[in-house]
Amino acid sequence: MTFLTRRGLLKTAAIAGAGSVAYAAVGRFGGWAAASPDPVILQTAKIQAALMDGGQTSNVLTYGSAGMPPVLRMRKGEPFAARLVNAIDDPTTIHWHGIRLPNKMDGVPFLVQPYVYTGDHFDYAFTPPDAGTFWYHPHCNTLEQMGHGLTGVIVVENPADQKFDAEVVLNLRDWRLGDDAQFIEQFRPRDAARTGTYGTVRTANWLDQPRYDAPAGGLVRLRVAITDVTRIYAFLVEGANATVIALDGNPVPERFSPDALLLGPGQRMELAIRMPDEEGAVVSLRDVRGTKPKVLATLRSVGGSLKRDIRDVAPLEANPVAEVDLSTAQHISLALSATAENVPSDGICGSLGYSFWAINKVPWPGDTPDPTAPLAELKLGKSYVIDMENLTPQSHPIHLHGMSFKVLSSSTRQVQPLISDTYLIQANEKVSLGFVADNPGDWLLHCHIIEHQKSGMTSYVRVV
Ligand code: C2O
Ligand code: CU
Repeated sequence: MTFLTRRGLLKTAAIAGAGSVAYAAVGRFGGWAAASPDPVILQTAKIQAALMDGGQTSNVLTYGSAGMPPVLRMRKGEPFAARLVNAIDDPTTIHWHGIRLPNKMDGVPFLVQPYVYTGDHFDYAFTPPDAGTFWYHPHCNTLEQMGHGLTGVIVVENPADQKFDAEVVLNLRDWRLGDDAQFIEQFRPRDAARTGTYGTVRTANWLDQPRYDAPAGGLVRLRVAITDVTRIYAFLVEGANATVIALDGNPVPERFSPDALLLGPGQRMELAIRMPDEEGAVVSLRDVRGTKPKVLATLRSVGGSLKRDIRDVAPLEANPVAEVDLSTAQHISLALSATAENVPSDGICGSLGYSFWAINKVPWPGDTPDPTAPLAELKLGKSYVIDMENLTPQSHPIHLHGMSFKVLSSSTRQVQPLISDTYLIQANEKVSLGFVADNPGDWLLHCHIIEHQKSGMTSYVRVV
């Protein structure tokens, strides 16, 4: 993969970023010439929002001036630029979850970039190489900032994709609110040491069970991102024929029914749904996990039937992810465990002040200017297999920054060779994830249950 070429391009883009200088470049995407994109302004703000019956919630955080953070649209292979302007009284950054980009754009404070303090800004510029559904969020004081609203969805379009009759994007997340609609404590230590602390109010696009209209008999592309800090979902679609076409930003090798599909924080799925023919018929997306199943959102058929066939959904183009070479791959063992130690809070970047979890027995000390040594040093361009074992009774959505892996095998289930950036490992499962270390830099690897991430279950690999 020619990240170097793209890096060169990005430098140009970053320099031209704020102005109107046009540049032409010939890169891996062919001889296009593009004007430097005007940066999207992502300004953090503290707002009021109506998240539940019973009143407006204060101290909600967003990008922009009202409502949910915008769904960002990018195009595969085309430069994107955004300026983060920090207008809240807490340092922040933006991480572009799942997008393979240069390390300096990855948004992890200390490891790759400085904090963006109140009143400061930071320019992000990169060219997404992959089409799919991704998302963005801070990587500093994450429990607080994400918990209060800073989680947004990214759609990277592939102009070559088949047109659907409708597209619906859902940002799924919870809120920890009391009866008076105000925020309550973001976590409880005893829950942080188990599955994490669940929200009390559950939303899709910041709404309770929103309903969207879609053409009767039409094909809908439903893009779902789980941006919650804690909750694992088990999906069920009722009232229509639905099939999973992509997971975590990549097409699935073989399509399957979404029913009972388990996905954790950080994961995304794309469904093709064939709407019912009768006008007014309702299709519901449900979460059936746990003791309080819930209808998350519904789609309603409108108009005369378009009479489409779900089998007409063309296969999605694979993303240009390098193929792992298993004959030369070096293996890296990774054990996820619980620790009992209490590590004092260093107060930096929202440390929770506890250490409940560890990777290879080392609990992450919190985001500090002096992080622990990398878990492994990888050689640029070489193949690796992470052999990961979950020694805890909980599930963990483990996320790798900067590179996509292929799911090779699991000790407990049949797996497809999915390309992904987040794997939900179950209790007592062992899984092998293969990838090519083709992106230089320091890349975090952590559990995306934020309380686990912030209380030890974080590490990083260095690619040189
Ligand atoms: Cu979604 Cu380290 O992040
Ligand atoms: Cu975890």
